[in-house]
Amino acid sequence: MLDRIVQGAVPRKHHLAFRDGEGRLLHEEAYTRAGFDGPYTLAYHRGRPHATHPVEARHGWRPAVPAPARRLARRHYRTPDLPARGGPPVDARVPLLLNSDLVLSLVAPDAADPVYVSNGDGDDLLYVFEGGGLLRSPLGDLRFARDDYVYVPRGLLHRIVPDPGPQRWLALEAAGGFHLPSQWRNETGQLRMDAPYSHRDFRRVEWTGPQDEGIRDLVVKRGGTFHGFRFDASPLDVVGWDGSLYPFAFPILCFQPRAGLVHLPPTWHGTFAAKGALVCSFVPRVLDFHPEAVPCPYPHASVDVDEIIFYVRGEFTSRRGVGPGSISHHPSGLMHGPHPGAYEGSLGTRTTNEVAVMLDCHQPLQATAEAIAIEDAGYEESFLET
Ligand SMILES: [Fe+2]
Repeated sequence: MLDRIVQGAVPRKHHLAFRDGEGRLLHEEAYTRAGFDGPYTLAYHRGRPHATHPVEARHGWRPAVPAPARRLARRHYRTPDLPARGGPPVDARVPLLLNSDLVLSLVAPDAADPVYVSNGDGDDLLYVFEGGGLLRSPLGDLRFARDDYVYVPRGLLHRIVPDPGPQRWLALEAAGGFHLPSQWRNETGQLRMDAPYSHRDFRRVEWTGPQDEGIRDLVVKRGGTFHGFRFDASPLDVVGWDGSLYPFAFPILCFQPRAGLVHLPPTWHGTFAAKGALVCSFVPRVLDFHPEAVPCPYPHASVDVDEIIFYVRGEFTSRRGVGPGSISHHPSGLMHGPHPGAYEGSLGTRTTNEVAVMLDCHQPLQATAEAIAIEDAGYEESFLET
């Protein structure tokens, strides 16, 4: 949820009779969050948007199933080793880590979604590690590229058309939805001047008019299961809309990082918030400017959160043995910190070129069998001096 915008034609007031050029009555869709208390969008359809037939669901990714509980340990998963499931995004998602608030998956699609998709279980936030493409919805199209976050609100019909070439996306599904951290907004909802991004940094979906792609099938994910529906006409029949609930992209390199006299905690890098989770962006920046500062993060016991880092590229001052596409998981209950030599070695460092996405989760994360299959078995021992 970003700001309220209007695209295409809308009536002068909510819920009034609104007709097209031929005098046909249009159908208003109220797309709302938190019942009717949250952000909403009103879209005007040529047809009845809820007129669907139940059919068999022929697409959908496999549910996130936790593996049996394992001993407490710091973990490292190498996602480049993950066999690409391929196919369209709706089938290609591979869940790796989960708790009751969030599912973290990897997606490496090689085809366009042949059906429309609606995730009734949560908002989706993609991070495009490699590739790019187009997200199409009744509200319009959104192009995305490498290094973009892509926000897809819960329950919005859409399909994704990946560009040709390799694709690897991190996918975060939040049952409670994603929002921008409240500390970055002023009392009117506008992003504050001292926020780490401005309204101009976000790329919003662009409405281009009703269209018919010839696709009539929709799969809706609800309760972890995909359910099939069929329209009689194209659901991309919106002539205009008005609201604050729509897909958008945010390029991670538009995040305005901060430097302090001494080390700043990750909360300063907070980019998206969710119930029980905070997504932080680490981008190239100058480091702490006190002459005696230790730029490397201190060992810490963050006893209330599981900490995930998805490494994108660059040199990571605190870790060794991780590379692009690595995921580290440092669970609550166990202290974590730099690898041997990294703390001392960081003294005098003035800049970092790291790019990474960090995720703090309040509920413990469990791994799936797919994650365990790509685990670096030596990671826990790697924190000992050798
Ligand atoms: Fe940490």
